[in-house]
Amino acid sequence: MCGIVGYIGHKNAVDVLLNGIKRLEYRGYDSSGIAFIEDGILKCEKAVGKIAELEKKLDGNNFDTHTGIVHTRWATHGAPTMENAHPHLDCHNEIAVVHNGIIENYDYLKLKLEREGHAFKSETDTEVLAHLIEKYFTGNLEMAVMEALKEVEGTYGIAVISVKDPKKIVAARRGSPLVLGIGNQEYFITSDISASLVHTRDVVYLDDNELAILTLDHYETKTMQNIPTYKKVEEVLWNIDMIEKGGYEHFMLKEIHEQPEALRNAMRGRIEGDRGLVKLGGLISCEKELREAKRIVVVACGTSWHAGLVGEYMLEELTRIPVEVEYASEFRYRNPVVEEGTVVIAISQSGETADTLAAMREARHKGAKLLSICNVVGSTIAREADCGIYLHIGPEIGVASTKAFTAQITVLYLFTLYMMHLKYPNNPLPYDMIKIILSMPDKIQAILTKEEEIVELARIYKDSENALYLGRGYNYPVALEGALKLKEISYIHAEGYPAAEMKHGPIALINKDMPVVFIATKDSVYGKVLSNIAEVKSRGGRLIAIATEGDDQIREKVDHVFYIPRTSDCLTPILSVIPLQLMAYHMAVMRGCDVDKPRNLAKSVTVE
Ligand code: G6P
Repeated sequence: MCGIVGYIGHKNAVDVLLNGIKRLEYRGYDSSGIAFIEDGILKCEKAVGKIAELEKKLDGNNFDTHTGIVHTRWATHGAPTMENAHPHLDCHNEIAVVHNGIIENYDYLKLKLEREGHAFKSETDTEVLAHLIEKYFTGNLEMAVMEALKEVEGTYGIAVISVKDPKKIVAARRGSPLVLGIGNQEYFITSDISASLVHTRDVVYLDDNELAILTLDHYETKTMQNIPTYKKVEEVLWNIDMIEKGGYEHFMLKEIHEQPEALRNAMRGRIEGDRGLVKLGGLISCEKELREAKRIVVVACGTSWHAGLVGEYMLEELTRIPVEVEYASEFRYRNPVVEEGTVVIAISQSGETADTLAAMREARHKGAKLLSICNVVGSTIAREADCGIYLHIGPEIGVASTKAFTAQITVLYLFTLYMMHLKYPNNPLPYDMIKIILSMPDKIQAILTKEEEIVELARIYKDSENALYLGRGYNYPVALEGALKLKEISYIHAEGYPAAEMKHGPIALINKDMPVVFIATKDSVYGKVLSNIAEVKSRGGRLIAIATEGDDQIREKVDHVFYIPRTSDCLTPILSVIPLQLMAYHMAVMRGCDVDKPRNLAKSVTVE
């Protein structure tokens, strides 16, 4: 949510900043802006819309600058206008600030600053930071930032420059990620490592309540109390190919096609086939608590929440430990009961989702052991958890999550097997359970080769205004995920429902214009789903079934069938979701939607 890049070094700062921020555009893209210092003057340019608009404005100028900051915005306070775009400046255009997060007491601060004579130009919460820093500036930028932040409530990742202390960038973090990139005589501060990865793989992750000062020849980190902190330089293992489109038209399509490899990576080194054991190194420190776990609570948002639901079904079925899955935002504010023996699992692709993080902190406060399932190594959720499992699937850039979903289910399955072994060490894991997960990449590949069939379906249904997705058991979360994918990127109104629950409401919506997608694989509830299909058919709905190869019976009951390979019930979601991802993608493209940057959404939601 919003992207920040700051650069100080020997290269042309405008070029470096624009190239960097373009890589973060998926995080927010309703407006953008840049500020840099040239010839002792603070220059600032902004544009509404995508970053290409900002580039157009800067095009043709030969800037000579080595220090600057840039931002791409996902609006929270104030509409996406020029005035509200970052960077925000002080009264005399001498200080520029870019900010991710929310300043919760900005109303109060703004009023106070206005009374003191500061003139505001925008409706944003961020602008108070520029004026506060101006107020406290006495010659040293970091001291002014520290003083200013003492008055601030809320969350922030900020980068600040000033012509009055021109040879530095000051950055600070509380609740919104910032990473310091360490290059060769150059430094970067970014909200996401992908922005500086072409220049360096050496990074320092800022912690909450920490400040970084970047100059041309060195960097330092401090607490907000001006006490130096000594940080480990870490090496990022992602490479640049992983954050490029690799010949695909969109990141989303690339990531859908990456799923076989992503799943192999998520499993690599974690299965001892011959002994039927699952090794999860990141859980060693929590083994005792996991063995004694009486209850598991999963907290997550969006697609990760759907993966959590699949995890709930698996864990309860196979380990008999009671599991609940909660929307992180609800868990956080409803004063939940967390009794002894509760393990809380936070699932988050980005590892930065504010609601999930807040839920984790609430759980910690109540004494739970915290486990994370994240993709982004070094992300806040991963670092705050007591133990965790990484997905290891490379960056996911498309705003609509795809490969993270199937990898999260894969990891949850491995975790389930791991828990079975912890709980019942004398019962060897059936080797079939291992064999079947190892076969998933090839099965996904087989589905992907039939993409043309989905393109045909998309052509037929692309003009629909509504769609219903129905599934039962393990395929209920898939119905939710299929509907979410479609609405996120095509703006078609779509609902996911447990197939039987459809009778209690959504059935009223069914008519000949309503495509109804049934995930009707040959599992333990197949017979029940067939009855639900008949109920829709008798009311004239248009039926699409995702069915198991070899199921000829279903053909005459629906308008279209897409077959997926057979697998165990609990792993079916990994396969049944693939055609739904592809269908959402192709329908959205046919409707002319920008699938990688859907309207109003952001990849990583770092505000509550
Ligand atoms: C946003 C994204 C979704 C994602 C959700 C949770 O809403 O658009 O694709 O599922 O955040 O993100 P997380 O990084 O915590 O999995």
